[in-house]
Amino acid sequence: MTYDFETVFKRYSTGSSKWDELARYGLNESDDIIPFSVADMEFVTAPEIIDALKRELDSSIMGYAGATPAYLETVCEWMRTRHNWDAKPEWILPSQGIVDAFFRAVRTYTREGEGVILNTPVYYPMYLAINSQGRKLVDNPMINTGTRYEIDFEDLERKAADPNTKLLILCSPHNPCGRVWTREELIKIGEICLRNDVLVVSDEIHFDLIMPGHRHTVFASISDEFANNCIVCTAPSKTFNIAGLQTSNIFIPNADLRKKFLNALMLSNPHPNCNILGYRASEAAYKNCGEWLDEVLKVIDTNRKLIIEFMAREFPAVKISDLEGTYLMWLNLNGLGIDYRELERRNHENAKLFFDEGYIFGKQGEGFERWNIACPTRYIEAALERLKKEYS
Ligand SMILES: Cc1ncc(COP(=O)(O)O)c(C=O)c1O
Repeated sequence: MTYDFETVFKRYSTGSSKWDELARYGLNESDDIIPFSVADMEFVTAPEIIDALKRELDSSIMGYAGATPAYLETVCEWMRTRHNWDAKPEWILPSQGIVDAFFRAVRTYTREGEGVILNTPVYYPMYLAINSQGRKLVDNPMINTGTRYEIDFEDLERKAADPNTKLLILCSPHNPCGRVWTREELIKIGEICLRNDVLVVSDEIHFDLIMPGHRHTVFASISDEFANNCIVCTAPSKTFNIAGLQTSNIFIPNADLRKKFLNALMLSNPHPNCNILGYRASEAAYKNCGEWLDEVLKVIDTNRKLIIEFMAREFPAVKISDLEGTYLMWLNLNGLGIDYRELERRNHENAKLFFDEGYIFGKQGEGFERWNIACPTRYIEAALERLKKEYS
């Protein structure tokens, strides 16, 4: 490896809720234990990003800043080269995060009481975006075949056909199930939505984190018709572990939809922007950190295989969803026969294991753990040892 994927900064007392949870259980700097919950990586930032930020700090003042033409072109170049998508700079609107973007999309494109579809279980803020804004959650539960989740297309078609249903928030790749939707699946989803006048908000924040043998397809890249019926939410934040810089790019090819979104943005801020350091870091990342990403993917793949081999050997009753994309493994521990609350307690108190509990992603997630495996391999090995000790 060219880059450092071994050093860990222990983020106690830095405002990281992921690390604060460890402190609540009495752990501190002297314990060689890391959390496996919130979706940021335990890898140090790529040196190319640090250098760009240092250059900015040395040569600039922290005034108001927007996206420059060079920034927008760099983002589009990434879409062309990594995603085979000919996106245009003028389609991009800024957002300080993807959660903010899908909350705003729900407000902008639907009215109170109207239906928004989710493929569940799913990233929990998506439920909130619907429920807390007075919209109706239209649940399209996925079918779990044991090691893979699939869309229930008949149910989707039925629910999309309800004239009250206006929007689908698509999680692509899917968190927490780790699916990278195939082009064929996306075409089916897109056609159902077109037929029934349902707009697609495609959250593609994990789109660069794809495991060998799989290929991500940007929803809008499939056809002009799809591009005109969607907004695509992207960011370099997961890819390069810079979520704290709060810089995302929302692509809206359809000019009417874009105008509506921009008007909604401007209701709360007449000059919507991200921040100067976020722009500089993102530009450096997309320009210079492709190799860093390729190496990160290798570490994630190594960790993935380690867990699969371990579970097959030690706990064959544990079912793991194939990790096709993201760095979030989805493990079904119900086969161990332990109540999910008790599992959580034993993980925390006895094994010192801090995953995201499956139930936060919906009822289907009870007894599951979402394991963030973007960390040095030695921490995965140590966690597996503690699992073995607690549950053998
Ligand atoms: C599917 C998905 N969307 C959005 C986010 C968060 O996005 P942001 O930090 O840009 O609001 C996450 C973070 O885990 C995620 O998994």
